[in-house]
Amino acid sequence: MSIVITGATGHLGRLVVEQLLARGVDPSTIVAGGRNEEALAGLAAHGVRTARIDYADPATLEDAFAGAGKVLLISGNEVGKRSVQHKAVIDAARRVGAELVYTSAPRASTSALVLAPEHKATEGLLEGSGLTYTVLRNNWYTENYADTIRRAAATGEILTGTGSGRVASATRRDYAESAAVVLLSGEHAGEILELGGDEPWDMDELAATVSAVAGRPVTVHQVGTDEHVAALKGFGLDEDAAGFAAALDANIADGLLAESDGTLARIIGRPTTPLREYVGEVLGG
Ligand SMILES: NC(=O)c1ccc[n+]([C@@H]2O[C@H](COP(=O)([O-])OP(=O)(O)OC[C@H]3O[C@@H](n4cnc5c(N)ncnc54)[C@H](OP(=O)(O)O)[C@@H]3O)[C@@H](O)[C@H]2O)c1
Repeated sequence: MSIVITGATGHLGRLVVEQLLARGVDPSTIVAGGRNEEALAGLAAHGVRTARIDYADPATLEDAFAGAGKVLLISGNEVGKRSVQHKAVIDAARRVGAELVYTSAPRASTSALVLAPEHKATEGLLEGSGLTYTVLRNNWYTENYADTIRRAAATGEILTGTGSGRVASATRRDYAESAAVVLLSGEHAGEILELGGDEPWDMDELAATVSAVAGRPVTVHQVGTDEHVAALKGFGLDEDAAGFAAALDANIADGLLAESDGTLARIIGRPTTPLREYVGEVLGG
């Protein structure tokens, strides 16, 4: 039986494929899927099977899932279309009786996070599907802050609307390891796992960390939503993208990403990647 990784052409999916290979999984039993042909060719170079998977094209799902024992559904990135797309993936997994693992968002079923509704809808579909499934409610990627870190090191300032809200981020590699462990161990069937970094941090801590690594003072400039939207538009974002980014910061200020209970570290058998280590990686220090 194969393990199908959807979204394998993306950052997280590729790392999951690498983690499966690192754990000795026979490459011929891994099916790496996505639409980007160049990325699929890169994955094929690892010896894994590849498949064109388009969540909007059920025939591609049927072909890729033939013989699948497990499917990792990595949530799509086309916000607004994802509930329908994910339903197609769940339906295709049900047709072959595969177990499904889904990457969701923190407390998706109850959270006011602006990104939660499509994840809540997908979790609801899974609940009614009759499938054996596991939900990985991944908190933020620390990588989301790569540009903030570089800009802070260059300008000495962080502009944010997150107030004193904390973020329980972890790196994509941490989450990818947990996905590989869950896919291979079979120990988490039926569970909804809240996954995040061991040490939630706020922007003052990020500024202090960048300051220590870059060797220059870094100050935090807190803004309200309107000022934030205007500033983001000044950086070149359009109205929608600026509004969305500002709303996410407001969600963080409200504490919606602050919780972590150590589940991710327990699953991967090591502490999650510290913020200091990631900042050092970005700034080469
Ligand atoms: N927790 C966080 O902080 C955070 C941040 C950003 C995103 N996310 C979520 O986590 C997911 C994985 O993150 P990532 O960094 O790996 O994102 P990414 O690099 O943008 O990769 C997204 C993957 O989803 C695939 N995909 C999107 N729409 C698809 C469709 N209609 N049919 C088939 N495949 C589709 C893409 O395939 P192709 O490129 O081949 O089309 C790609 O492989 C994202 O898609 C998003 O839902 C979470």
